[in-house]
Amino acid sequence: MKNLFDFPKELLAELHAARHVTVLTGAGTSAESGVPTFRDAQTGLWAQYDPEELATPEAFQHNPKLVWDWYAWRRQLVARAEPNPGHYALVELEKLVPKFTLITQNVDSLHQRAGSSRVIELHGNISRIICSKERTVIQNWDDNNDCPRCPFCNNLLRPDVVWFGETLPPDALMAAYHAAQHCDVFLCIGTSGLVQPAASLPAAAIHNNIMTVEINPDTTPLSPHADYHLKTPSGRVLPALVTALKNYTP
Ligand code: OAD
Repeated sequence: MKNLFDFPKELLAELHAARHVTVLTGAGTSAESGVPTFRDAQTGLWAQYDPEELATPEAFQHNPKLVWDWYAWRRQLVARAEPNPGHYALVELEKLVPKFTLITQNVDSLHQRAGSSRVIELHGNISRIICSKERTVIQNWDDNNDCPRCPFCNNLLRPDVVWFGETLPPDALMAAYHAAQHCDVFLCIGTSGLVQPAASLPAAAIHNNIMTVEINPDTTPLSPHADYHLKTPSGRVLPALVTALKNYTP
């Protein structure tokens, strides 16, 4: 297949020689699967709400039903979505390098559904439902007209995602920092780089003089600092990058 992208030789050489590649993905990676990015305009019923005001413990405390319904809508949307060529290209990339770490801020399981074997989920998973008090995972709940309650302790149920102002799962965050600081190439894909602490992972790689490549059609705070900025949707450029890497001869 003819490769439409003319990747810099140095980039392919570094990727080809890399023993460990670390990738951080954000909502942009799922955009081509039809999952709206967090900062995109909400559609339909939800157009009047700011997602940053729904994804908080305060919003849940104030109006649990509203937050539950918003997540139920997103959960349904995610369940209907399919992984896109960018997700599948990352599965291929995993097979091409000796060590591969995939860190995601996405809660949609699309990397796992594409076949990525080990995914560090920094912000949890929307399909998992937990008790808001005891944090036990709940498999079945009664979806009546109200926000469902824990069958064991009667406290409210919530999605197992990290809300603004909440701390990230410490093991996932530690593993992510370690992988960002100890790889040979760091790819940052489809993230606005505005939400901490995930946004500091590329900075940690750059601090350790690791080649950093950004994939994002837009410019972000990372763009001026990355070694390469591929300004193309990930679903288009990632398959081409993997093909170029397979065909690369030093
Ligand atoms: P954002 O919605 O902030 O940013 C999405 C980024 O993807 C933007 O920079 C877009 O330019 C880019 N983008 C859009 N389409 C793309 C495509 N086809 N290919 C590549 N890039 C594309 O999403 P995140 O950075 O993931 O947190 O947001 C981080 C966190 O903030 C989310 O996990 C969520 C959110 O608020 C929590 O829920 C805690």
